[in-house]
Amino acid sequence: MCPMEKTSYRSVWWVFLVIACQSMVTNAAQTPVVEVKALFANCAACHGADGGGVADGTVPAIGGQPVSVIMRQLQRFRSGERKDLRMQHFADAEHLTDTQQIELVAKHVASLRRSTPVKQGDGSQLDLGARRWSTGCAGCHGAAADAVAARGIPALAGQHAPYIERKLREESNGVPGAPTLSQSHAAVFKRLTPTDRAALADYLSRLPPPKPML
Ligand code: HEC
Ligand code: HEC
Repeated sequence: MCPMEKTSYRSVWWVFLVIACQSMVTNAAQTPVVEVKALFANCAACHGADGGGVADGTVPAIGGQPVSVIMRQLQRFRSGERKDLRMQHFADAEHLTDTQQIELVAKHVASLRRSTPVKQGDGSQLDLGARRWSTGCAGCHGAAADAVAARGIPALAGQHAPYIERKLREESNGVPGAPTLSQSHAAVFKRLTPTDRAALADYLSRLPPPKPML
């Protein structure tokens, strides 16, 4: 091998190395963007592109919930602690392979600004709703009901009234499929009459939804 050939071999390797490194760097920067779109496509099919949910109360609005709340609920569905066949399926390890993917999709959901109109109640019991909220619930959930991120407490403000009403009813009756909340929570729900539940749901649906995390 003559010296000339050696140098050109070396430079070819250098060019190769530089291209390989560049493509690694671009991939590292791009992968999360591509991935999160693909991950969220599943969620959007049910929860809507803005995370606004479905007015009839079957699917909750999730856009703008804190990352901690979304991650916690995804993990609870995944472990089966919270039961819902659809969510248990889409939160399983085949759809969200690891904690990093759970966090990625949660951050995206947290950044969404809802545009879907919120389904409210009939407006006839708003004073009762406000009273029940401030005496029984605001101590943990906060007066504005817009989530306590540090404690994983979900925002209920701006949620569809039929969803909140359904959760309160299912949880107090112990219907399978309701989220497993703490014993003290179930006890709080049991004291609510159907009128209280409708009033609370209507009151909460009219409060401003949580601000999206940017
Ligand atoms: C097949 C429909 C469907 C798909 C797909 C789906 N969800 Fe859900 N999701 C639901 C339903 C229905 C509920 C309410 C379950 C219940 O009644 O407790 C729910 C509940 C949730 C909750 C709890 C909200 C709350 O207020 O407690 C979160 C968070 C959530 N979904 C996030 C996601 C994310 C993120 C994805 C995508 C990775 C996703 N969902 C995909 C239907 C779906
Ligand atoms: C002792 C504190 C506490 C009190 C009091 C309390 N909550 Fe909660 N609530 C929580 C926590 C914590 C969660 C989240 C549960 C979890 O992820 O394990 C929650 C969750 C919920 C959910 C489920 C949200 C969802 O989308 O699945 C609803 C609905 C709710 N609370 C309504 C109420 C109402 C209405 C009252 C008053 C009647 C109330 N809570 C009182 C702490 C409390």
